[in-house]
Amino acid sequence: MTHIPASFPQTDAQAGKRRVAEAALSHVEPGSVLGVGTGSTVAFLIEALAARPGLIRAAVSSSNATTGALRAAGITVLDLNEVEDLPLCIDGADEATRAHHLIKGGGGALTREKILAAAAKRFICIVDQSKLVDTLGTFPLPIEVIPMARKLVARTIEAQQGRALWREGVVTDNGNHILDVHGLSIQDPPSLERRLGQITGVVTVGLFAVRPADVLLVGSPTGTEII
Ligand code: 5RP
Repeated sequence: MTHIPASFPQTDAQAGKRRVAEAALSHVEPGSVLGVGTGSTVAFLIEALAARPGLIRAAVSSSNATTGALRAAGITVLDLNEVEDLPLCIDGADEATRAHHLIKGGGGALTREKILAAAAKRFICIVDQSKLVDTLGTFPLPIEVIPMARKLVARTIEAQQGRALWREGVVTDNGNHILDVHGLSIQDPPSLERRLGQITGVVTVGLFAVRPADVLLVGSPTGTEII
């Protein structure tokens, strides 16, 4: 996971990520259990949580990388099965629309991220402004697949649309493979999410549209927009 110290010269994207991650803290109910996503924007969130010890009672993590970062920040990590109530999950995205539809999975953690989004009463997505798009699909759509079905799924997708490229060398925390589908222009995200999810061998589609974000926070170097 990327860790960028505050003193390091920041690009606009990094400054936006830091700002939006810090702004997200005001949505956290003190003493609650928080679902925590994965990625460099979430790394800033964990840094902000570390600076507010005791703000949350514990976290549920979406990846081994996030679990390591949370523990290093002194935050207790619970298994989702131990948690009765998950009021909020905060996570980043690779692309987001004003309709709260997302592409996620650039970091390969899409399955556990989708589980946390499903479990949480409220799902807040935090992105820097470069991630905000009119139409999803410029960022290749990640799909987690059972390894033995990788070529079968790739052929099935390519018979419909796009080019499904194997993210070679990457094995997810669940022991699976990732295909990245290039060349999409996604006009109806919930319907594509449902259709791709029905292909045998697909574990998780990196579209978060059937269960979209409830709130989208967009950070820039100068402020945060709430959508
Ligand atoms: C990981 C994800 C991340 O949320 C997404 O890749 C955005 O990452 P970053 O905050 O580093 O730009 O879906 O699976």
